[in-house]
Amino acid sequence: MDLKPILLKAESDFNNAVSALNINEVKAKYLGKKSFLGELMQKMKDFTPEERKEYGKLANDFKVALEVLYEKALKRVNDMEIEKRLTENKLDITLPGLNFNQGTIHPLTKITREIEDLFLALGYEIKEGPEVEIDEYNFEKLNLPKNHPARDMHDSFYIDAHRLLRTHTSPVQVRTMLESQSNELKIICPGKTYRRDLDDATHSHQFMQIEGLVIGPNINMANLKGTLDLLAKTIFGQDREIRLRPSYFPFTEPSVELDVSCQCQKQGCPICKYTGFIEILGAGIVNKKVFAMCGLDPEKVQGFAFGLGVERIAMLKYKMNNLRHFYTNDLRFLKQFKGGL
Ligand code: DAH
Repeated sequence: MDLKPILLKAESDFNNAVSALNINEVKAKYLGKKSFLGELMQKMKDFTPEERKEYGKLANDFKVALEVLYEKALKRVNDMEIEKRLTENKLDITLPGLNFNQGTIHPLTKITREIEDLFLALGYEIKEGPEVEIDEYNFEKLNLPKNHPARDMHDSFYIDAHRLLRTHTSPVQVRTMLESQSNELKIICPGKTYRRDLDDATHSHQFMQIEGLVIGPNINMANLKGTLDLLAKTIFGQDREIRLRPSYFPFTEPSVELDVSCQCQKQGCPICKYTGFIEILGAGIVNKKVFAMCGLDPEKVQGFAFGLGVERIAMLKYKMNNLRHFYTNDLRFLKQFKGGL
């Protein structure tokens, strides 16, 4: 008995069926009571035991093959139905995304980064220190002993008799020298500083500074001047000139103040109070006493240091007249400072 032609026909019938209903019709045709297989099964009882054995196996294999065709066809038709329903009932349940509001860089961060970039390119390291500092590092090891009159300018917030909110970033110099005990250092130290000031358009009890310290063999005033000239030109433009004026800081000897020529090209204007120059920072040659107090041999090392106020630089650079804008988070102000984060 050759069942192959029936199987081939069944396969093409199942393949041609396009719905579950069709498939059931085809199923009845090949697997139902009245199908060839159904009738063969019914005849089975009339066969001799030998015949039954032979045809039984044949019929069973035939049935299994037909059932496989049926299952395959059913799956194909079901998948088709799902696909059809999905394309017909297209429902977009997604909401449009929220716009991501990218902030702008804060002007104080911008200035700090510009200065950091300059000094990193010159081979300096960036050092940071704690904002709660001990009196010994904030004052004493910087040659500002107790009751020194220069402490008056640094009236501050004390935590207890020995600890205070640092009044400048200069204690980071002390910490770095004590820690490294090296006769060669090039560092800048940016950070927040505090003084007990009455807040107004040009004073704030909290402000930012960047400290610089270079120590090594034969460091002198010429090195300091060259460095400050580069700093001033990088921040304000190549057309600016610098001027050093004698000054006093306990931790440097001699000490200077750095003026930069005003944007009015020294013609005189309200910004420079008609002097042609604006003061921007304090600096000097590191006092030998500071080296000694930080464990370095004052006969073997020389160095220069400087300290600048970031707010002051930013106000001059961006021509601002009120320091408070830096702290009040007014977006109309902050959004004017574009730039990569
Ligand atoms: N620490 C000083 C201040 O806050 C600024 C300063 C001046 C720092 C001269 C220095 C320096 O390192 O050499 O007023």
